[in-house]
Amino acid sequence: MENNSNNIYPVFDKMLGRADKESLLGQHGLMVWFTGLSGSGKSTVAIALERELQRRGILCRLLDGDNIRTGINNNLGFSEEDRMENIRRIAEVAKLFVDTGIVTLAAFISPLRQMRQMAADIIGRNDFVEVYVGTPIEECERRDVKGLYARARRGEIKDFTGVSAPFEVPEAPALTLDTSRLPLQQSVEAVLQLILPRINKEER
Ligand code: ADX
Repeated sequence: MENNSNNIYPVFDKMLGRADKESLLGQHGLMVWFTGLSGSGKSTVAIALERELQRRGILCRLLDGDNIRTGINNNLGFSEEDRMENIRRIAEVAKLFVDTGIVTLAAFISPLRQMRQMAADIIGRNDFVEVYVGTPIEECERRDVKGLYARARRGEIKDFTGVSAPFEVPEAPALTLDTSRLPLQQSVEAVLQLILPRINKEER
């Protein structure tokens, strides 16, 4: 192929765009951002949702603490500054997935409004669906799956969200789920109803 040295971006080198990826996959990319306290059920709902989407032939990618805080973000702690950076990097990674046409699920506390706003701005507001997992703290603490609330109450963990660090309730989430009242399958159904029309090509 002929190369023109004046043109550093020859047409044949152009990267394929989102529309090309979406037509390959037959779906639209979308960000589903779960926010809520530790133990609220974010990951549980996201994992069940991922399975349901997979069953329907929709390609998705779940980002959560297990694959992010042990990998790309293993140098970050829980100060406000580190949480901001945690969310910033997650949003940048998520954007790559969404721009590849993938339905991307994120399950992070993301406790402050400005963190969630930053994520929405990075990813693009039109692609961003905020789901607040608003299980009451009493229930999260009763579950205490990882024993962290007990340790935080004893003062062994500082800056623990809901105990010694703030959580700002989302002002206008697309959906609120209380997993202490709603069975898992109903939570998944509620999210599906919200997102399927935006994922399916023919329905958009
Ligand atoms: S975020 O605030 O930066 O969004 P993220 O969702 O990545 O937090 O990580 C939260 C998880 O880290 C919790 O579910 C809990 O298991 C663990 N954790 C450890 N220390 C803390 C802390 N000080 N505050 C909140 N969660 C913590």
